[in-house]
Amino acid sequence: MTPPMTTTPIRPLVAGNWKMNGLAAALAEAAAVRDALPALGAGNSDVPPDVMICPPATLLAQMAYATRGSPILLGAQDCHWAASGAHTGDISAEMAKDAGASAVIVGHSERRADHGELDRVVRAKAEAAHRAGLIAIVCVGETKGERLAGLTLDVVARQLEASLPDAASDAETVVAYEPVWAIGTGLTPSNADVAAVHAAIRKALAARFAAAGLRMRILYGGSVKPDNAAELLSLPEVNGALVGGASLKAADFLAIIRATP
Ligand code: 13P
Repeated sequence: MTPPMTTTPIRPLVAGNWKMNGLAAALAEAAAVRDALPALGAGNSDVPPDVMICPPATLLAQMAYATRGSPILLGAQDCHWAASGAHTGDISAEMAKDAGASAVIVGHSERRADHGELDRVVRAKAEAAHRAGLIAIVCVGETKGERLAGLTLDVVARQLEASLPDAASDAETVVAYEPVWAIGTGLTPSNADVAAVHAAIRKALAARFAAAGLRMRILYGGSVKPDNAAELLSLPEVNGALVGGASLKAADFLAIIRATP
């Protein structure tokens, strides 16, 4: 196995994407994560992970209030590319920040599929996140058909190239590799396949962003659960996880945080 190309430790990030789940009662789960975090300490990590919850926009402000004073970071799940204006139903990166977010997911495959978001739209949203002072978590990943056709690395390279802003820095940009066929299915790629895609992403980031590209966090997402988290999170160039279903229950999410090497 080739050694990781990065030398300085990268602080892992474990982010929970609640998707379109959660009414006010679910704030109790965030509160349970808040209450358990201090006791976790550094756990088995050299560098303890950053912990983030991305609730639906309707809960952002309340969750910011419920987690104030705790290290939990909050993220939005999408933003418009404009700062304000006549865009009924959308929220801007500035609004997400105003509600308490320090990050926003852009280009999730569910947005790409449900709303026809193309790479150039994802890039405009990432630029909007940076304009507002938010971390952009930019998602990429192949469909089942693309994987079976042997196109995984091509698809991911193309999405990265077109979705990441040229001025992306490691402090405000995170890449999430989420194979579409692994999301919500209980299926995951083999460890070797995850490592191969993450290595290719690292290489592309380093080629385009030099030192910043070596430090950008690359998360794995797609059926991360308490029982596979330790293995997935210890693979080379996997700097954390973007967790869907298993982030909805504090106990499962905390187990994944604890499993971070
Ligand atoms: P699951 O963890 O439910 O597979 O979802 C992954 C995901 O899409 C996170 O953004």
